[in-house]
Amino acid sequence: MRLDKLLAFTQVGSRSEVKRYIRQGCVTVDGSTEVKPERQVDPAAQRICCFGKPIQYQALVYYMFYKPKDCVTAHRDNLYKTVMDYIDVGCRGLSPVGRLDLDVEGLLLLTNDGELTHALLSPKRHIPKVYEAKINGRVEEDDIKAFQDGLDIGDQTPARPAELVILQAGEISDIRVTVTEGRYHQVKRMFDAVGKPVVYLKRIAMGSLTLDPSLMPGEYRALTVQEEAELKRTGGGLCFDR
Ligand code: URA
Repeated sequence: MRLDKLLAFTQVGSRSEVKRYIRQGCVTVDGSTEVKPERQVDPAAQRICCFGKPIQYQALVYYMFYKPKDCVTAHRDNLYKTVMDYIDVGCRGLSPVGRLDLDVEGLLLLTNDGELTHALLSPKRHIPKVYEAKINGRVEEDDIKAFQDGLDIGDQTPARPAELVILQAGEISDIRVTVTEGRYHQVKRMFDAVGKPVVYLKRIAMGSLTLDPSLMPGEYRALTVQEEAELKRTGGGLCFDR
C-alpha cells in the first residue's frame, strides 16, 4: 500500500495533509525518514511512525449483519439496542453503510472501509437496494406502473424509477421492490404515495450483496472473499443508471 494512503486511512490526516507531513520529513519507515508519499509499505511488516508515534494499522474488515427490529442504526442510543451492541469485533472505525429505520429489518453492511462506504452511498452511483415488504392493501398493476414512472413522494424531485414485483396480492400484499436511491423512509413514502402503507419491511440485498438466509436476526458474519471482491467491483465501477 502507498505510504500516504496508509496514513490517510489510519486517520493521521487528509490525503493532502499526510503528503505534506511525508515531504516535510515527519514520517519514518523502519527508523529511516521517508519523503516519498508514493513509497510502497507493508504495515504488517514495517514500523511506520509519524511525528515519532507508531501507526496502528487496522486491516479493512467487512461484515454482513441481519439487523433485527427495535435496533437503531447508530453507535449509541439511550432507549434501544444499537447495531454496535450486536457486533463483538474490536475494530476502530467499524460503521454501518447507510441506515435502516428502527422497525425495519434485514441486510446491513458494516465496514471500516471509508472509500467503499462512500462509493456505495454516493447518490451518483444508484446502487440498487432490494426490499421485501408486506403492504396494507391490494397492490396492483397500476402501482407497478406508478413505481416505474417515478413517484412523487413529496420532495422537490420525484423518486427514481423503481421495480415493483407483486409476490402475492390480497388485503395484505407481499411485494419485492428495488430502489436505486436512499432517501429518508424511501420505501414507506413510496407506498404512502399510492395510499397503501408498509406494515413490514426487510432489506434483502444491496448492490451485489445478498442477505445470507442462514443468518438469524441479530447475527452477523464476515463477507466471503468473493462477496468482498464483487461488492468492491460494484461500488468502485458499475453505475446502475437506467
Ligand atoms: N425505506 C424505508 O422506508 N425505511 C428504511 O429503513 C429503508 C428503506
